[in-house]
Amino acid sequence: MVEAVQGAGVVVTGAGGGIGAALARRFAAEGARVVVNDLDAGRAEAVAGEIGGIAVPGDASAIVADAREALGGTVDVYCANAGVALEDGDLEQPVDEKSWGLAWDVNVMAHVRAAHALLPAWLERGSGRFVSTVSAAGLLTMIGAPSYSVTKHGAYAFAEWLSLTYRHRGLKVHAICPQGVRTDMLSATGSAGDLVLRPTAIDPADVADALFEGIEEDRFLILPHPEVAAFYRARAAEPDHWLTNMNRIQQKWEELR
Ligand SMILES: NC(=O)c1ccc[n+]([C@@H]2O[C@H](COP(=O)([O-])OP(=O)(O)OC[C@H]3O[C@@H](n4cnc5c(N)ncnc54)[C@H](O)[C@@H]3O)[C@@H](O)[C@H]2O)c1
Repeated sequence: MVEAVQGAGVVVTGAGGGIGAALARRFAAEGARVVVNDLDAGRAEAVAGEIGGIAVPGDASAIVADAREALGGTVDVYCANAGVALEDGDLEQPVDEKSWGLAWDVNVMAHVRAAHALLPAWLERGSGRFVSTVSAAGLLTMIGAPSYSVTKHGAYAFAEWLSLTYRHRGLKVHAICPQGVRTDMLSATGSAGDLVLRPTAIDPADVADALFEGIEEDRFLILPHPEVAAFYRARAAEPDHWLTNMNRIQQKWEELR
């Protein structure tokens, strides 16, 4: 049991399935009181029922007030987990403004709006925990997915900014950056996912395990696939070499399509 989490009021967005449901289950098993959010009310209620949590359905962008009320006035941990991955790998078509707008809204602005709503109380009492489900695409860029790659870089940058700005005032931030995880989202990624993500995919419960290790070690960067650290170093050390290797994967993907 992780002491920091026992009895805590926890919110997990996009927790009607996949990684969010696994995080909600793990927080509940560790003795937290969990708000289960999802756009899909039925899925949020099913997970909340299973773990003895409270369902607060709706758009993750605007649920802090309702979640706080459901938890009796205090949110201790907020997991900004809801995310969207859209099929937009072909820039030879006109810009799909709607898809880019949705990716910004869910993958970045929902985090910004939640942090704005949560920070005043957290800074006043000198503690709070913000968990961002980013992606390895936020560190490395994903083949065939420009809006996902860009907005996940944005989510990572925002988590980093939160951490460096408020860590001396009691805020803990964790950025979870997995590669493939066996969820509905992975099933929908098609041939790019098959090529790059599926061979090393892990289960959602493995992501929850990695987060809890990171909470115990008080670590910002959570890498459920540890090999991502080496790829991230290679990208920083030799950008052109790294881009050439990534382009080889792109070409392989084009042959498969
Ligand atoms: N599956 C992967 O391979 C993988 C890898 C790296 C990162 N991630 C990230 O993990 C997070 C969870 O993804 P997942 O794989 O569990 O996906 P998923 O599609 O299985 O689950 C996402 C859930 O979020 C909900 N949702 C979508 N938009 C929402 C909104 N605006 N408000 C509230 N709920 C909303 C959906 O209804 C769904 O239940 C995402 O941020 C995703 O980008 C996933």
